Amino acid sequence: MKKFVVANWKMNPGTSREALSLFRSVKNGFKNLKNIEIIICPPSIYIAELVKDSGNIKIGAQNLFWENPPKGGAFTGEISAKQLKALGCEFVIVGHSERKIHFGETNSQINKKIKLALKYGMRPILLFGENTIEKKNKQTKKVILGQIKECLAEIKKSDLAKIILAYEPVWAIGGESACFVEDVYEINLFLKNLIAKEYSVNLAEKIPVLYGGSVNSKNAFGYIADAMSDGVLVGSASLSSLEFIKIAKSLSKSR
Ligand code: PGA
Repeated sequence: MKKFVVANWKMNPGTSREALSLFRSVKNGFKNLKNIEIIICPPSIYIAELVKDSGNIKIGAQNLFWENPPKGGAFTGEISAKQLKALGCEFVIVGHSERKIHFGETNSQINKKIKLALKYGMRPILLFGENTIEKKNKQTKKVILGQIKECLAEIKKSDLAKIILAYEPVWAIGGESACFVEDVYEINLFLKNLIAKEYSVNLAEKIPVLYGGSVNSKNAFGYIADAMSDGVLVGSASLSSLEFIKIAKSLSKSR
Protein backbone atom coordinates (compact mmCIF):
# COMPACT_ATOMS: atom_id res chain seq x y z
CA MET A 1 0.00 0.00 0.00
CA LYS A 2 1.21 3.53 -0.80
CA LYS A 3 1.93 5.68 2.25
CA PHE A 4 -0.36 8.67 2.62
CA VAL A 5 1.00 12.08 3.55
CA VAL A 6 -1.90 14.43 4.13
CA ALA A 7 -1.44 18.17 4.70
CA ASN A 8 -4.15 19.96 6.63
CA TRP A 9 -3.46 23.65 6.06
CA LYS A 10 -6.42 24.65 8.26
CA MET A 11 -7.13 28.40 7.81
CA ASN A 12 -3.73 29.10 6.19
CA PRO A 13 -2.12 30.82 4.36
CA GLY A 14 -3.60 34.31 4.24
CA THR A 15 -3.68 34.94 0.47
CA SER A 16 -4.11 32.87 -2.68
CA ARG A 17 -0.70 34.02 -3.88
CA GLU A 18 0.92 32.56 -0.74
CA ALA A 19 -1.15 29.38 -1.12
CA LEU A 20 0.02 28.90 -4.69
CA SER A 21 3.61 29.59 -3.77
CA LEU A 22 3.54 27.06 -0.87
CA PHE A 23 1.86 24.51 -3.13
CA ARG A 24 4.41 24.96 -5.91
CA SER A 25 7.37 24.57 -3.61
CA VAL A 26 5.84 21.41 -2.15
CA LYS A 27 5.15 20.09 -5.64
CA ASN A 28 8.70 20.74 -6.81
CA GLY A 29 10.05 18.70 -3.92
CA PHE A 30 8.07 15.61 -4.89
CA LYS A 31 9.15 14.94 -8.42
CA ASN A 32 10.86 11.60 -7.75
CA LEU A 33 9.16 10.25 -4.67
CA LYS A 34 7.86 6.72 -4.98
CA ASN A 35 5.26 4.83 -2.93
CA ILE A 36 3.83 8.02 -1.54
CA GLU A 37 0.42 9.62 -2.05
CA ILE A 38 0.49 13.32 -1.24
CA ILE A 39 -2.84 14.94 -0.45
CA ILE A 40 -3.01 18.67 0.22
CA CYS A 41 -6.12 20.00 1.94
CA PRO A 42 -6.12 23.80 1.61
CA PRO A 43 -8.90 26.19 2.65
CA SER A 44 -11.73 25.68 0.13
CA ILE A 45 -11.30 29.12 -1.45
CA TYR A 46 -7.91 28.00 -2.84
CA ILE A 47 -9.00 24.62 -4.17
CA ALA A 48 -9.87 25.69 -7.74
CA GLU A 49 -6.53 27.42 -8.21
CA LEU A 50 -4.46 24.54 -6.82
CA VAL A 51 -6.35 21.86 -8.77
CA LYS A 52 -5.28 23.57 -12.02
CA ASP A 53 -1.66 23.14 -11.01
CA SER A 54 -1.87 19.88 -9.07
CA GLY A 55 0.16 17.40 -11.17
CA ASN A 56 0.81 14.29 -9.06
CA ILE A 57 -0.49 15.87 -5.90
CA LYS A 58 -4.08 15.15 -4.92
CA ILE A 59 -6.33 17.84 -3.54
CA GLY A 60 -8.68 17.38 -0.61
CA ALA A 61 -11.14 19.64 1.18
CA GLN A 62 -11.15 20.18 4.94
CA ASN A 63 -14.91 19.88 5.29
CA LEU A 64 -18.21 19.52 3.43
CA PHE A 65 -21.82 20.06 4.34
CA TRP A 66 -24.08 17.12 5.21
CA GLU A 67 -26.95 18.11 2.92
CA ASN A 68 -27.10 18.57 -0.81
CA PRO A 69 -28.52 21.39 -2.96
CA PRO A 70 -31.74 19.50 -3.84
CA LYS A 71 -32.86 20.25 -0.25
CA GLY A 72 -33.12 23.90 -1.34
CA GLY A 73 -29.52 24.97 -0.93
CA ALA A 74 -30.58 27.15 2.01
CA PHE A 75 -27.42 26.61 4.03
CA THR A 76 -25.64 29.94 4.06
CA GLY A 77 -21.88 29.65 4.03
CA GLU A 78 -21.73 25.90 3.47
CA ILE A 79 -20.15 23.92 0.61
CA SER A 80 -21.67 20.72 -0.79
CA ALA A 81 -20.08 17.44 -1.83
CA LYS A 82 -21.27 18.07 -5.37
CA GLN A 83 -19.53 21.46 -5.49
CA LEU A 84 -16.26 20.06 -4.10
CA LYS A 85 -16.26 17.20 -6.56
CA ALA A 86 -16.94 19.61 -9.44
CA LEU A 87 -13.91 21.65 -8.33
CA GLY A 88 -11.69 18.58 -8.60
CA CYS A 89 -11.41 17.39 -5.00
CA GLU A 90 -10.66 13.70 -4.65
CA PHE A 91 -10.52 13.59 -0.86
CA VAL A 92 -12.24 15.33 2.02
CA ILE A 93 -11.38 15.47 5.72
CA VAL A 94 -14.32 14.72 8.01
CA GLY A 95 -14.63 14.67 11.78
CA HIS A 96 -11.75 16.94 12.71
CA SER A 97 -11.88 17.62 16.45
CA GLU A 98 -11.67 21.38 15.83
CA ARG A 99 -14.99 21.16 13.99
CA LYS A 100 -16.50 19.21 16.85
CA ILE A 101 -15.19 21.65 19.46
CA HIS A 102 -15.88 24.97 17.69
CA PHE A 103 -18.92 24.08 15.59
CA GLY A 104 -20.57 21.36 17.64
CA GLU A 105 -20.30 18.78 14.89
CA THR A 106 -21.73 15.39 15.87
CA ASN A 107 -20.94 11.82 14.83
CA SER A 108 -24.29 11.55 13.08
CA GLN A 109 -23.52 14.65 10.97
CA ILE A 110 -20.08 13.19 10.21
CA ASN A 111 -21.80 9.98 9.13
CA LYS A 112 -23.98 11.95 6.68
CA LYS A 113 -20.92 13.78 5.37
CA ILE A 114 -19.10 10.49 4.73
CA LYS A 115 -22.09 9.13 2.82
CA LEU A 116 -22.29 12.24 0.64
CA ALA A 117 -18.55 12.29 -0.03
CA LEU A 118 -18.73 8.66 -1.16
CA LYS A 119 -21.80 9.30 -3.27
CA TYR A 120 -19.90 11.98 -5.16
CA GLY A 121 -16.81 9.85 -5.61
CA MET A 122 -14.52 11.45 -3.03
CA ARG A 123 -12.55 9.49 -0.44
CA PRO A 124 -13.34 10.64 3.10
CA ILE A 125 -10.46 10.93 5.56
CA LEU A 126 -12.17 10.20 8.87
CA LEU A 127 -10.49 11.65 11.96
CA PHE A 128 -11.17 10.34 15.45
CA GLY A 129 -9.43 10.22 18.81
CA GLU A 130 -9.74 10.92 22.50
CA ASN A 131 -9.41 14.24 24.33
CA THR A 132 -7.27 14.98 27.39
CA ILE A 133 -9.88 13.98 29.97
CA GLU A 134 -10.78 10.77 28.15
CA LYS A 135 -7.07 9.89 27.98
CA LYS A 136 -6.65 10.59 31.70
CA ASN A 137 -9.64 8.37 32.45
CA LYS A 138 -8.21 5.59 30.26
CA GLN A 139 -11.23 5.70 27.95
CA THR A 140 -9.31 5.97 24.68
CA LYS A 141 -10.42 2.66 23.16
CA LYS A 142 -14.02 3.04 24.31
CA VAL A 143 -14.18 6.55 22.81
CA ILE A 144 -12.65 5.43 19.52
CA LEU A 145 -15.03 2.47 19.30
CA GLY A 146 -18.04 4.76 19.74
CA GLN A 147 -16.77 7.29 17.21
CA ILE A 148 -15.98 4.67 14.57
CA LYS A 149 -19.28 2.83 14.97
CA GLU A 150 -21.40 5.99 14.79
CA CYS A 151 -19.46 7.63 11.97
CA LEU A 152 -19.45 4.45 9.85
CA ALA A 153 -23.05 3.42 10.56
CA GLU A 154 -24.97 2.05 7.56
CA ILE A 155 -22.19 2.64 5.09
CA LYS A 156 -22.21 0.10 2.28
CA LYS A 157 -19.60 -2.63 2.69
CA SER A 158 -18.32 -1.97 -0.81
CA ASP A 159 -17.71 1.69 0.13
CA LEU A 160 -15.86 1.11 3.39
CA ALA A 161 -12.54 0.35 1.69
CA LYS A 162 -12.61 3.83 0.13
CA ILE A 163 -12.44 5.46 3.55
CA ILE A 164 -9.12 6.50 5.07
CA LEU A 165 -9.00 6.41 8.86
CA ALA A 166 -6.82 8.80 10.83
CA TYR A 167 -6.20 8.43 14.55
CA GLU A 168 -5.64 11.93 15.86
CA PRO A 169 -5.75 12.33 19.64
CA VAL A 170 -7.17 15.78 20.43
CA TRP A 171 -4.49 16.47 23.06
CA ALA A 172 -1.71 15.79 20.53
CA ILE A 173 -2.78 18.50 18.07
CA GLY A 174 -0.80 21.71 17.78
CA GLY A 175 2.73 20.70 16.91
CA GLU A 176 4.14 20.20 20.39
CA SER A 177 2.93 16.99 22.01
CA ALA A 178 2.90 14.03 19.64
CA CYS A 179 1.65 10.64 20.78
CA PHE A 180 4.21 7.96 21.72
CA VAL A 181 4.89 5.54 18.89
CA GLU A 182 4.10 2.58 21.22
CA ASP A 183 0.66 4.02 21.95
CA VAL A 184 -0.09 4.57 18.26
CA TYR A 185 0.98 0.98 17.60
CA GLU A 186 -1.44 -0.25 20.25
CA ILE A 187 -4.27 1.81 18.74
CA ASN A 188 -3.46 0.56 15.24
CA LEU A 189 -3.70 -3.06 16.43
CA PHE A 190 -6.92 -2.27 18.25
CA LEU A 191 -8.39 -0.69 15.10
CA LYS A 192 -7.38 -3.51 12.80
CA ASN A 193 -8.92 -6.07 15.20
CA LEU A 194 -12.04 -3.97 15.55
CA ILE A 195 -12.50 -3.66 11.80
CA ALA A 196 -11.81 -7.37 11.28
CA LYS A 197 -14.43 -8.24 13.91
CA GLU A 198 -17.09 -5.67 12.97
CA TYR A 199 -16.65 -5.78 9.20
CA SER A 200 -14.14 -8.19 7.66
CA VAL A 201 -10.51 -9.32 7.78
CA ASN A 202 -10.18 -8.26 4.17
CA LEU A 203 -11.25 -4.71 5.01
CA ALA A 204 -8.92 -4.60 8.03
CA GLU A 205 -6.04 -5.40 5.68
CA LYS A 206 -7.10 -2.87 3.06
CA ILE A 207 -8.28 0.20 4.95
CA PRO A 208 -5.48 2.73 5.55
CA VAL A 209 -5.00 3.95 9.12
CA LEU A 210 -2.98 7.14 9.47
CA TYR A 211 -1.66 8.98 12.51
CA GLY A 212 -2.11 12.72 13.08
CA GLY A 213 -1.08 15.07 15.89
CA SER A 214 2.19 17.05 16.00
CA VAL A 215 3.79 15.04 13.20
CA ASN A 216 7.14 16.46 12.04
CA SER A 217 10.21 15.35 10.10
CA LYS A 218 11.81 13.87 13.24
CA ASN A 219 8.94 11.64 14.36
CA ALA A 220 7.10 10.76 11.10
CA PHE A 221 9.18 7.71 10.17
CA GLY A 222 8.56 6.07 13.56
CA TYR A 223 4.80 6.09 13.05
CA ILE A 224 5.24 4.16 9.82
CA ALA A 225 8.15 1.88 10.64
CA ASP A 226 7.38 1.10 14.31
CA ALA A 227 3.71 1.93 14.85
CA MET A 228 2.69 0.40 11.49
CA SER A 229 0.57 3.38 10.45
CA ASP A 230 -0.19 3.71 6.75
CA GLY A 231 0.63 7.39 6.62
CA VAL A 232 0.49 10.66 8.51
CA LEU A 233 -1.76 13.69 8.67
CA VAL A 234 0.22 16.87 9.16
CA GLY A 235 -1.06 20.23 10.39
CA SER A 236 1.44 22.89 11.50
CA ALA A 237 4.47 21.23 9.90
CA SER A 238 2.73 21.21 6.49
CA LEU A 239 2.94 25.01 6.33
CA SER A 240 6.68 24.80 5.73
CA SER A 241 7.37 23.21 2.35
CA LEU A 242 10.85 22.14 3.47
CA GLU A 243 9.55 20.39 6.57
CA PHE A 244 6.67 18.79 4.70
CA ILE A 245 8.96 17.50 1.96
CA LYS A 246 11.31 16.07 4.61
CA ILE A 247 8.38 14.22 6.17
CA ALA A 248 7.34 12.73 2.83
CA LYS A 249 10.93 11.79 1.97
CA SER A 250 11.34 9.99 5.28
CA LEU A 251 8.17 7.99 4.58
CA SER A 252 9.24 7.06 1.08
CA LYS A 253 12.16 5.18 2.64
CA SER A 254 9.88 2.96 4.72
CA ARG A 255 8.94 -0.65 3.88
P1 PGA B 1 -0.76 19.42 14.01
O1 PGA B 1 -2.27 19.43 13.47
O2 PGA B 1 0.06 18.61 13.07
O3 PGA B 1 -0.38 20.85 14.05
O4 PGA B 1 -0.81 18.81 15.38
C1 PGA B 1 -2.86 18.27 12.98
C2 PGA B 1 -4.32 18.50 12.70
O5 PGA B 1 -5.01 19.11 13.52
O6 PGA B 1 -4.84 18.08 11.67
